[in-house]
Amino acid sequence: MTFTAPGLSDANAKELIKILQERLSGLNDLHLTLKHIHWNVVGPNFIGVHEMIDPQVTLVRGYADVLAERIATLGGSPRGTARAIEDERTWDDYSIGRDNVQSHLAALDLVYDGFVASHRSAIESTEALDPVTQDILIGQTAELEKFQWFVRAHLESASGGLPHADSHTERQAAAAAS
Ligand SMILES: [Fe+2]
Repeated sequence: MTFTAPGLSDANAKELIKILQERLSGLNDLHLTLKHIHWNVVGPNFIGVHEMIDPQVTLVRGYADVLAERIATLGGSPRGTARAIEDERTWDDYSIGRDNVQSHLAALDLVYDGFVASHRSAIESTEALDPVTQDILIGQTAELEKFQWFVRAHLESASGGLPHADSHTERQAAAAAS
């Protein structure tokens, strides 16, 4: 590496770049998934959910930009291509096509379960490496968790239960909530 952030070792910078690259592909996949839902949701309450998703797309695209530029700041070269997403993701493509509001939101809740858990894991991995990178991930996670609450609030009963609570796949969640 020709440079990295002052006071950071090359070895730590390389480790951070690896963590950030996986999260960058995660964010790139997430904003595509959100648009896919924006385009495929149908039925009662369509407009509320269709319009609720776009600000989150903008936020998530912005977060991808922040992580990509952090990679460059640390001396790395961010990969922002579709191939990078394919190479790095350990999760399946979003599996629901045209479907109603409740189905998509239940499936999206599972998407956020996985995404937020991975961001939290990156927070843990950066703890000893770089508090500045960790701070970025912490701020992003708080906002993503808030949006997941928006999603869940549409599905939640008055007693706080979720119809898809025991679901392990998007399809199971969609079926349980519809
Ligand atoms: Fe649109």
